[in-house]
Amino acid sequence: MSVLESFRLDGKRACVTGGSRGLGFAMARGLAEAGADLVLVGRDLASLEQARDDLVATGRQVEILSVDVGSPEPSEAGAHRVLETWGPIDILVNNVGGRRIDVPTETLATVDWQRIIDLNLTSAFVWSKVVGGSMLPRGWGRVINVASISGLVANRGIGGRSYETSKAALLSFTRALAADWAPRGVTVNAIAPGGFLTEPNQRWFQERPELRETFEQMIPMGRFGVPDELAPLAVYLASDASRYMTGATLVIDGGYTLW
Ligand SMILES: NC(=O)c1ccc[n+]([C@@H]2O[C@H](COP(=O)([O-])OP(=O)(O)OC[C@H]3O[C@@H](n4cnc5c(N)ncnc54)[C@H](OP(=O)(O)O)[C@@H]3O)[C@@H](O)[C@H]2O)c1
Repeated sequence: MSVLESFRLDGKRACVTGGSRGLGFAMARGLAEAGADLVLVGRDLASLEQARDDLVATGRQVEILSVDVGSPEPSEAGAHRVLETWGPIDILVNNVGGRRIDVPTETLATVDWQRIIDLNLTSAFVWSKVVGGSMLPRGWGRVINVASISGLVANRGIGGRSYETSKAALLSFTRALAADWAPRGVTVNAIAPGGFLTEPNQRWFQERPELRETFEQMIPMGRFGVPDELAPLAVYLASDASRYMTGATLVIDGGYTLW
């Protein structure tokens, strides 16, 4: 098999949580262009339908499921539904997550802390358990956890440390699960993006314009990433090209974490 052929995903099916918009959509498009059929998971049905309409142009089969991945019980039921309706799934991208709050720790309500932990961390546990676990008997599978550089460093000038905490824990979960599943043919890796210009960040910058400048000054490349720049990495981790890599955290941040 040539190097480029080892990136092909023909005959595989990928499930992307949060695949209707932002980084999840960009990665889903990359996976489809490489040959994978898709199951996209999100909450808002209109966004999912729009994403499906956009992605069927790749010629791949695209299914959608509306479920709140941040609420553990419906999330787990949704993961089972994906398997029962569209299984087997070969590639799982645990992409759902977010910060959503800017509150200092000393005033952060415990319920809000827990909500962010569930959104970023419990969601990945639940979908890895159900969908990733279903790959084990077949002896081949890929789990890709979308963490953040916020799992490696603290973000300057913004509260809500449940985000940093959950993403750091997601990196640790990635390594431990990778060790467990390495002998069984399922790799588990993490992507740690820096700042990308998706809707949540656009919202932050509207509310707090000084944040954009603070962030941009800290990026050696001097700019935010655009979502399409994440897709090749997702294809690499989803394919045979990455067959000897597991438990890794791949940082893609324009150099943010170098300083
Ligand atoms: N953008 C960045 O700069 C950046 C940097 C580092 C890490 N990340 C990580 O990358 C991931 C994607 O971020 P993004 O910026 O692309 O976010 P985004 O543009 O807001 O997209 C989030 C996606 O997830 C879905 N989603 C959100 N909450 C959900 C829930 N509770 N249940 C089901 N689906 C849900 C959204 O659809 P619905 O809203 O319709 O549910 C949408 O499809 C997150 O894990 C984030 O922490 C992003």
